[in-house]
Amino acid sequence: MSTKPHIHVIILAAGCGKRMPKKRFKQFFLLEKKPIVMHTILKLFKIIPKANFNIVLPEKKINYWKNLCKKYNFLVPHTIFKGGETRFFSVKNTISSLCFKQNDLVFIHDSVRPFFSKQLIKRLINSAQKKGHSVPVIEIKDSLRRKNKNIDNTISVDRSNFLLTQTPQVFRAEIIKKAYSRKSNQIKKTDDVSLIEEFIFPINLIYGEELNFKITNQKDWELAQIIAPNFL
Ligand code: CTP
Ligand code: MG
Repeated sequence: MSTKPHIHVIILAAGCGKRMPKKRFKQFFLLEKKPIVMHTILKLFKIIPKANFNIVLPEKKINYWKNLCKKYNFLVPHTIFKGGETRFFSVKNTISSLCFKQNDLVFIHDSVRPFFSKQLIKRLINSAQKKGHSVPVIEIKDSLRRKNKNIDNTISVDRSNFLLTQTPQVFRAEIIKKAYSRKSNQIKKTDDVSLIEEFIFPINLIYGEELNFKITNQKDWELAQIIAPNFL
């Protein structure tokens, strides 16, 4: 009998890209002639082809997505979910609609992080199988200052006390279900591991990748276009 867990992938693509200056919905911007979110899913599909793929979209973009799938002949089988007001609700609604077995693994990934490597995905799976969850992080390279309300009131802080979290974050199904079903004031959290730390210690971190950055603002988008030919 195979000991490999079944994997469910949740691709978050229901944001509206407010930090992009003009055009929003960055998940549909074209890199190498294909929407970013398609690159993200296709890359994962090549690494974990037996996984169930789920995509979370803004309700008003669902038909647009279906048309994109036809236009780009996008054949990865997937289920579509309607997004929520915030990332938290996009994940919560999707998790509550999916059927898991206890030991299945759930991958939660930002659609706008297409530059991860196969090695990162394999390391995340191995580590989550052993520890129940795994989360990629990177060290901070620049010096760091803490703002006290505004830019005129800042103080230096020791960067070695901080880490940046990335996605995919991977969880055994029972853990992430529990995290999203708890009645606590968590709706401002911007990643998923933040929700398990109330009842899991220690948090299992592995080294992520600098290239696995989130396309968030215009500069990220310009960088993404430059590196795409070599890294997609
Ligand atoms: N996301 C989502 N549902 C939301 C908000 C965000 O599925 N209600 C997704 C985004 O589509 C993105 C990922 O979460 O893939 C990371 O979020 P972020 O970079 O913040 O994207 P946006 O929310 O679209 O951008 P912004 O915060 O600038 O508006
Ligand atoms: Mg956002």
